[in-house]
Amino acid sequence: MNVAIQGLGTYLPERILTNHDLEAMVETSDEWITTRTGIKERHIAAEGETASDMAAKAANIALENAGITAEDVDLIVLGTITPDQQLPATACFVQEKIGAKNAFAFDVQAACTGFIYATSIAEQYIKAGTVKTALVVNTEKLSAVTNWEDRETCVLFGDGASAVVLQEATGDEKGIMSSILKSDGKYTDLLRIETGGSNEPVTAENVGENRHKMMMSGREVFKLAVGSMVSVGKEALEAAGVDVNEIKYVIPHQANMRIISSISSKLKLDLDEHFYNNLPRVGNTSSASILLALAEAIEAGKIEKGDKLLFVAFGGGLTWGAMVVEI
Ligand code: COA
Repeated sequence: MNVAIQGLGTYLPERILTNHDLEAMVETSDEWITTRTGIKERHIAAEGETASDMAAKAANIALENAGITAEDVDLIVLGTITPDQQLPATACFVQEKIGAKNAFAFDVQAACTGFIYATSIAEQYIKAGTVKTALVVNTEKLSAVTNWEDRETCVLFGDGASAVVLQEATGDEKGIMSSILKSDGKYTDLLRIETGGSNEPVTAENVGENRHKMMMSGREVFKLAVGSMVSVGKEALEAAGVDVNEIKYVIPHQANMRIISSISSKLKLDLDEHFYNNLPRVGNTSSASILLALAEAIEAGKIEKGDKLLFVAFGGGLTWGAMVVEI
């Protein structure tokens, strides 16, 4: 059985925070952020706008795009590192907001690899015959866990949501041709939010130290990101039986243009011709990023039915993964 993407939806909040805005908040410059990361601006959720609000908007567009209703959905898998609450799952808030009353719903935490993980899980349910229609949603309100006093992280992240409807392919498209998931718990300290879990509940003291916000060892993450995404990308190509030269676009997790450029060199695929990036306009939106870029590429008429795409992602955990998809 081939499992295919039958509908796609994305959502970006209205408010835009530019590098120049950040210059007024921390000691940084548009020039530093642009040359070190490639990011020019990012979207920021409105006051009171939740991760599940953004997810529901993206999900409704994906359902409409697939030509189905929320009641047709059997399963919701939601990837996020910024859940509305610790309990219950954000997937359940989304279920209620879109009216997917026949679905069962749960969250997956794989940080920036969340889209690959959530999609792969949903694909397995469909292949097993347990569900017919799955809705994969990725939503991130990273502005809520960003330490706005830490210039090394606050310039990187943005908010947004994306969703896909997955079903058995109806035509002769191959859909998801391979998906490879990886993790290595040796590196749990490289990207982390230390408090708010059962190990160290939130206290006035740790909030005062900003330890309820995201912390990152940027240089170490950078070093591991390139090699991991290249090797898992190659593994996914091999598993799909697809040569790298058959790939129309690599759509990598949008974290840093220097990381993406290194991946392009190592895969020997031209950056301008075979990579689609929207990092300058949205920043790093963690699990939502790959589909936000895919939706833009489709909208721009750059991707046609039958094109083969390679998705590669990398994030906290560490987790990383790749997927070859024929659209
Ligand atoms: N503005 C200006 N200067 C900054 C800065 C900012 N926003 N952030 C850091 N700097 C400074 C540092 O303090 C350091 O100064 P020093 O030399 O006086 O000590 C200098 O810039 C170089 O810092 P360094 O950390 O070596 O920069 P870098 O080239 O590694 O770039 C990142 C930093 C964070 C952009 C880069 O490491 C990165 O992108 N890492 C991966 C992060 C990522 O993608 N995470 C998510 C994974 S899903």
